[in-house]
Amino acid sequence: MLDKVNHIAIAVPDLAEASAQWQARLGVTPSPPLPQPEHGVSVVFIDLGNSKIELLEPLGNDSPIARFLEQNPQGGVHHICFEVADIMAARDHLIKNGARVLGGDEPKIGAHGKPVLFIHPKDMNGTLIELEQN
Ligand code: CO
Repeated sequence: MLDKVNHIAIAVPDLAEASAQWQARLGVTPSPPLPQPEHGVSVVFIDLGNSKIELLEPLGNDSPIARFLEQNPQGGVHHICFEVADIMAARDHLIKNGARVLGGDEPKIGAHGKPVLFIHPKDMNGTLIELEQN
């Protein structure tokens, strides 16, 4: 069901600082910060060719990563996103096998303009998993 890792999202308290650290320490080329107000985050993309790292900083008052950063003030891995060929089939398969889909069972349009869903982390060993239609 899963294809490749699309991205690994890391919540950070300071996007400029995190971006500079990734560049200096790991020799990558981060994108400029991209505000995504509809998703409550500013994002720096680090393109690795076969996958991406997304550094996420809260944007606005009700950011979905604000609580995560309260609990993890230095930042941390927030979610891992895998590509799937058929997100509705993936959704049905998840529900049939006892996993909860966050925010209702309908996929939403994600940050890349494609349908996405998130699986409840309590049903995935404490790890937030995103699935994106490829
Ligand atoms: Co994501």
